[in-house]
Amino acid sequence: MITIASIAALKAALKQAKDKGQSIGFVPTMGALHEGHLELMRRAKKENGLLVVSIFVNPIQFNNKEDLDKYPRVPEADSKLLESVNCDILFAPEVEEMYPEPDTSDYDFGALGGVMEGAFRPGHFNGVAIVVRKLFEITEPDKAYFGEKDFQQLAIIQQLVKMLNLPVQIVPCAIVREADGLAMSSRNMRLTVEERRVAPKIFQILTKAVSLKNVLSPAEMRHWVWEQLSAEKAFRLDYVEISDDRLLQPVEHWNDAPGAVIFIALFLGQVRLIDNMRIF
Ligand code: PAJ
Repeated sequence: MITIASIAALKAALKQAKDKGQSIGFVPTMGALHEGHLELMRRAKKENGLLVVSIFVNPIQFNNKEDLDKYPRVPEADSKLLESVNCDILFAPEVEEMYPEPDTSDYDFGALGGVMEGAFRPGHFNGVAIVVRKLFEITEPDKAYFGEKDFQQLAIIQQLVKMLNLPVQIVPCAIVREADGLAMSSRNMRLTVEERRVAPKIFQILTKAVSLKNVLSPAEMRHWVWEQLSAEKAFRLDYVEISDDRLLQPVEHWNDAPGAVIFIALFLGQVRLIDNMRIF
């Protein structure tokens, strides 16, 4: 694996690969890699000639300075994990390389951008869209891999690609969970032992909720999940939503949408966790 920090050097390395006719599979990340990230990479490696991974903690997508400051940064451990999945190129730029000038682009994702993470983290998706667009323009991947752990982010990226006619295929990848059901996340490292013990309740409650889909209406299921999560003192809820799987708008009747997903966001101590599970 070669590690590259400059855009010019990355473009030169990629040109060589492209001249050889190799397809490029790209996995953008913010590092502190775990098995969830690695699954995306294994798939990208299998489906392409060259695997390119970026690690860049993108300051403009953090709406909370403390979250940015405390975001885990473990470059040596990350490099070892990248070697283990046969990553070809790691692109790890500094902030100045990505933003020599502030990027003032302002995207409108309509209804999709106004709910859940869009409502609770103002500016977050605009910051994600700016960095992902830049990364796509620099890397020009054939395929780019995103996890359903961040279901709304994946939908935003798909909309961005359509809106701007970007020549890349977005590949959605299933959520990878710990053995006890907790969705893997770089932020899980920041949980205390006691918080880590409680965290799998999210998965347990979502699983139980989905099993009740034939007896509860969407409103009843949402209420049930809210009550169950609220009963755990350590959780401070941001939202529970049951939404369609396209524009992620609230579902009133199960027949309203062919696909419905339950979404939650909550604080456990200082750490904000999100999770989701498909109902239909
Ligand atoms: P990050 O949180 O590092 O996640 C990078 C990619 O890994 C995302 O597509 C995310 O959905 C996926 N991922 C994370 N945990 C996962 C899990 N448990 N199962 C499956 N996939 C998982 O998401 C970002 O970084 C950033 O917003 C980024 C897209 C890189 C833009 O800065």
